[in-house]
Amino acid sequence: MMYKIAVFPGDGVGPEVTREAVKIVRRVAQLFHLGFEMKEALIGGASIDKFGAPLTPETLKLAKESDCVFLGAVGGPAWESVPYEKRPEQALLTLRQELGAFANVRPARVFPGLAGTSPLKKEVVEGTDLVVVRELTGGIYFGKPKGIEKLTSGEEKGVNTEVYTTSEIRRIAEKAFQLARRRRRKVTSVDKANVLESSLLWRRVVSEVGKNYPDVTLGHLYVDNCAMQLVRNPRQFDVILTSNLFGDILSDEAAVVTGSIGMLPSASLGNHHAIYEPVHGSAPDIAGRNQANPLAAILSVAMMLESTFQLYEVARAVERAVESVLLAGYRTADIHQEGANLIGCSEMGDWVASRISG
Ligand code: IPM
Ligand code: MG
Repeated sequence: MMYKIAVFPGDGVGPEVTREAVKIVRRVAQLFHLGFEMKEALIGGASIDKFGAPLTPETLKLAKESDCVFLGAVGGPAWESVPYEKRPEQALLTLRQELGAFANVRPARVFPGLAGTSPLKKEVVEGTDLVVVRELTGGIYFGKPKGIEKLTSGEEKGVNTEVYTTSEIRRIAEKAFQLARRRRRKVTSVDKANVLESSLLWRRVVSEVGKNYPDVTLGHLYVDNCAMQLVRNPRQFDVILTSNLFGDILSDEAAVVTGSIGMLPSASLGNHHAIYEPVHGSAPDIAGRNQANPLAAILSVAMMLESTFQLYEVARAVERAVESVLLAGYRTADIHQEGANLIGCSEMGDWVASRISG
């Protein structure tokens, strides 16, 4: 049995953290006698520089032929003046849509011993353990009409459209409820139903789906209130279910609240494909200096082992190794605290690899 992974390191710190993720895949392959076939390709800015496009048909084909994609990060200041359709970010959006990766799962938790790295008070964040389930292939990111048009007055008009259909809402809601069943059985659906019709439908459909999960508590929050609750009392949340745009914003907020944005993994799941990537971006300011935190990438490997390959024990072994390295006091710069042992990206990968046990 060969598990096929398409590996797209991307830009900025992407290649550095991906290297450590690959190290972990090789280590578990050896320890647990598993076969992984990893094929690499360029994506984002790196692909623009070489091929003139952020996602080539060959790269997309590789993604579709693999069991899943592992991605580092895309984007950076070098490509900010490139036309919109050719930006590195476009690669990500196309990949999500082409692979049908409609469910973005972003766990945000405070790791033991790391509450002090949050910008919020330790007492507020300690024990936070939530997951944002973000709809990823619909909403205002893809809705039509869209574009910038010239008006006869000489003015220009920029348009994007927030659209959701019943089936799109239903399938993401199902994901959230199923996930909640494996956690603390609480779903908070986030919308703007006091203003937007698409949100009104969202709320109605989520409530209907919720009836099939009587064991899961469902609540609804307006997005502005949710943004506030996340900093007031993040511990109240278990699964946050929301739209593409709201999820983009709230998942960054949730990540920084935990004090460990360099630690947070993500999965973008479809019915037949999946993309795993760290939540942090390409961090061009520290790229190429061996300073990035590879733990988000490594924990994304754990999510991949679990969700795509159903290797639950192996996934746990990787997570336990990460916790053990943190407990032993090893830290990259982003999570460094007084008295801890400051190490670089590749050393962190080595430590985690050495602590995985079967
Ligand atoms: C994310 C990112 C992307 C998004 C960008 C890079 C297109 O912010 O994954 O959250 O907006 O979805
Ligand atoms: Mg984002």
